[in-house]
Amino acid sequence: MSTPKPVAMVTGASSGIGAEFARALAARGYDLVIVARDGARLDERAELLEKEYDASVEVLAADLTKATGLKVVEARLESADPPIDLLVNNAGFGTFGRLWELRRDVEEREIRLNVVAVTRLCHAVLPGMVERGRGGIINVSSVAGFQPTPANATYGATKAFVNSFSHALCEETRGSGVHVMVLCPGFTKTEFQERNGLDSSKVPDRLWQLPDQVVGAALRDFDRRRSVCIPGALNKAGAVFSSVLPMNLSRRVAGAVVKRSE
Ligand SMILES: NC(=O)c1ccc[n+]([C@@H]2O[C@H](COP(=O)([O-])OP(=O)(O)OC[C@H]3O[C@@H](n4cnc5c(N)ncnc54)[C@H](OP(=O)(O)O)[C@@H]3O)[C@@H](O)[C@H]2O)c1
Repeated sequence: MSTPKPVAMVTGASSGIGAEFARALAARGYDLVIVARDGARLDERAELLEKEYDASVEVLAADLTKATGLKVVEARLESADPPIDLLVNNAGFGTFGRLWELRRDVEEREIRLNVVAVTRLCHAVLPGMVERGRGGIINVSSVAGFQPTPANATYGATKAFVNSFSHALCEETRGSGVHVMVLCPGFTKTEFQERNGLDSSKVPDRLWQLPDQVVGAALRDFDRRRSVCIPGALNKAGAVFSSVLPMNLSRRVAGAVVKRSE
């Protein structure tokens, strides 16, 4: 009898970094559960991955900001049929502008997706993983989580939560056979900028990465059991710089960068 393939769930797998995680994991021999709101797009991805990598792909069309969507995805994470070996909490979005110029309900939705869904999905998958003594979680954060981010205050704060939360889970699971890593990309060419109304032309070329560079670095660091992955030398340097500065200084630096780009 052949050994069953490991199974990974990737949220936000219909585009960008999530779609590349799904592809790279299928190429590594995983079966997949892919999650996003757009079911038709997920079906297309599933067909492609099944054809190209002989992966079995389950599609879960769900809005992770809504209780009904969360319920479906949490139930799959709690199920042992077959169990999820790797959860990639990748779905996320940002809002850009001064807080009082943005819509209150959209800010709330951003917190629901970037913070509440990440917490709930980790909570749903961990008991089974700890009981089986194996498994992994990759939470997709951002370099925006290393300092306050004026002009996208809520986004940076949600990613600071993901950083702190993931580091804490990494310690809580130490010695259990389960590994938790946080991935902190910088500017990555995906649909993120267009969806969130960002003018990409103001970002210097040298700061951009492609999803395959980000995911390649993430999977390499996950294999090495790193707790944090910051893809790219410039992103690493920026994150270290922000982390060593007191918050009132990193805030001023971030504010000055925003003013210059306006
Ligand atoms: N691109 C960057 O520069 C960058 C930098 C740092 C960190 N990140 C982080 O990387 C992650 C992936 O972003 P990306 O750059 O790949 O952006 P993207 O191309 O816009 O992909 C976002 C994914 O999330 C899904 N999604 C959005 N809202 C959802 C919801 N309510 N419920 C379920 N799924 C939802 C989208 O699919 P549907 O629309 O079909 O739901 C899509 O698959 C995010 O957490 C983002 O914060 C991105």
